[in-house]
Amino acid sequence: MPIPLIIDTDPGVDDAVALLLALASPEVEVRAVTTVFGNVPLPMTTANAARVLALAGRGDVPLAAGADRPLVHPQPERAEGWHGADGLGGLAAGLPEPTADPDPRGAVGLMADVLRAAPEPVTIVPIGPLTNIALLLALHPGLTGRIDRIVAMGGSLGAGNTTGAAEFNVFSDPEAAHRVFTQAEVPVTLVPLDLTMRCLTDSRWLAELAAGGPRCAQLAAVIGHYHNAFRTRYGLDAVALHDALAVLEAVVPGTLRTTGFPLRVACDLGPARGVTVADRRRAAPGPQVNVALDADIPAVLGEVLKRLVTPPCECVTVF
Ligand code: BDR
Ligand code: CA
Repeated sequence: MPIPLIIDTDPGVDDAVALLLALASPEVEVRAVTTVFGNVPLPMTTANAARVLALAGRGDVPLAAGADRPLVHPQPERAEGWHGADGLGGLAAGLPEPTADPDPRGAVGLMADVLRAAPEPVTIVPIGPLTNIALLLALHPGLTGRIDRIVAMGGSLGAGNTTGAAEFNVFSDPEAAHRVFTQAEVPVTLVPLDLTMRCLTDSRWLAELAAGGPRCAQLAAVIGHYHNAFRTRYGLDAVALHDALAVLEAVVPGTLRTTGFPLRVACDLGPARGVTVADRRRAAPGPQVNVALDADIPAVLGEVLKRLVTPPCECVTVF
């Protein structure tokens, strides 16, 4: 029986890779895709998610839009510098047109209905700001038993990518992240920058992706702008596929090696805003978040590539 999955996303180049990875993985069944503001504004993340589903030939997957802003404090910063003005490297319009309108229930309503209907507990994979997930937990506490685990990309125990020590998804809605990381009802695995910035796909990996067929070629083209941003900003001829790592862990549980810490998020308005703080004391109090800090990195990169270039995902002709 495939693992039922909900992906909450803000496409975003690495989100697009992550979505296609999930849709190419027979171990899981994607029951819903929900969108949140983040890399670009909500209308664009929703349209992009719909286009990525269409690219995979999976316009049948229910898609719903969620929060267009954080829970408490405005956070105007988006990530167009990384992902392009349209969120997909300037190539969103070249992807197939969405085949269906977003679901009128909205992200939280759709997630709640999927949880109620699933015969077995569902894995939720948030790969954008955690606003929708915090709202789901707050509005539907009776459904937490229907969630098997949350596998989120976000946070950093070291350097940040948005401020000195804050990672983008957590910085975008620190109060929501704090709500999700400090609850005890649902196990959380967090995939932070500490690991994702070590999992770098080099030019050879990208060339192999591009050679994997028309859909993969289109995905590789979408990654081009993101690749340039890594060159310009970090001097790296490589990219970090942050969100794809969280999806891979959800698809093949145990792929990433985790360490449990209670985590808190700095929610003040000073320079620490959005920083994830791990309590490393022995017997530290509070629910533990399983923080993915290590993995067999070549194996992870190889696995992501293999799944992307292998049918059944090669199902739409784009040229
Ligand atoms: C995260 O921020 C976004 O830009 C990416 O899509 C990823 O989810 C990395 O910090
Ligand atoms: Ca993302």
